[in-house]
Amino acid sequence: MKGVESTFFSNSKYNRRNILIMNNDDFDRFKGSQDYVASEALRNAVNVSIALAKPLLVRGEPGTGKTLLAHSIAKGLGKKLIIWNIKSTTKAQEGLYVYDTVQRLNDSRFGGKEVSDIRQYIKLGKLGQSFTSKEQLVLLIDEIDKADLEFPNDLLNELDEMSFYIPETNETFKAIHRPIVIITSNAEKELPDAFLRRCVFHYIEFPDPELMEEIVHVHFPNLKDDLLKEALRTFYSLREIDQFRKKPSTSELIDWVQVLVASSTSPEIISKEIPFTSTLIKKEADHSFFSNLYMRRKQASRVSGYD
Ligand SMILES: Nc1ncnc2c1ncn2[C@@H]1O[C@H](COP(=O)(O)OP(=O)(O)O)[C@@H](O)[C@H]1O
Ligand SMILES: [Mg+2]
Repeated sequence: MKGVESTFFSNSKYNRRNILIMNNDDFDRFKGSQDYVASEALRNAVNVSIALAKPLLVRGEPGTGKTLLAHSIAKGLGKKLIIWNIKSTTKAQEGLYVYDTVQRLNDSRFGGKEVSDIRQYIKLGKLGQSFTSKEQLVLLIDEIDKADLEFPNDLLNELDEMSFYIPETNETFKAIHRPIVIITSNAEKELPDAFLRRCVFHYIEFPDPELMEEIVHVHFPNLKDDLLKEALRTFYSLREIDQFRKKPSTSELIDWVQVLVASSTSPEIISKEIPFTSTLIKKEADHSFFSNLYMRRKQASRVSGYD
């Protein structure tokens, strides 16, 4: 453990109780990247997770930049990224390794191949690859809440020890460099306590308009200020509609701004018509609710002579 950490924190020292004392540069490793805006709290959480060599569990509503965070960490620290996309059918074991018995059987029956070396039929999964890598890398376990509840529990040991045993070959793999592990989860499902205990946790709040301005700016550095202001004003007023089943998120805003720019829409048109709502509103019920509301507002403004 000590050896592994000292390669992370080259200038740091251990005190008499063998606790790592980091100098500030070592702790403050993740500073964000050019294409990703990370709040101070988020940067801090990333650095705590790296310092403790514990996985960072990031939660937040869809579109708040959880997946992109892992890309940004990899880019910012100059490390390779391995992505493990979790599906409802994903099992923890697949992340470690799969023993391809079917291939072995085929080879022994029809291939005329030497099949006694089982190692050639062991295919490492994403977790296995990240443990056996010669250099430290970033591992993203994306949308862990999609799998069943057993999934995080089944990973506890491996994430703690960063090692696993393959009985078929009687081999144990232990991470030479503990990967930087980022785990994302949408805010819906509760994860087991035992799993939470092993992670550093951060909830990405939906960005306030100021932070969102920075985020949009990263994607559209030359965006005119009045267009940005009007787009954000409209976007946040849409998010205030409580009846919406799915409020538009950052990714929808980025798409919308892209269309606004491509179509040279003026700020006046945005405030008057709210064009291209199909990029912002994704549910049928929300669409009809919005259309009704919009029509009513338009009629009211006509009656009062504003239109
Ligand atoms: N902090 C951010 N900085 C830059 N772009 C962001 C940020 N947050 C969200 N985005 C934009 O929103 C999109 C969706 O982000 P993503 O990471 O896929 O969200 P999540 O994984 O939380 O659903 C990104 O592709 C990016 O365009
Ligand atoms: Mg995601």
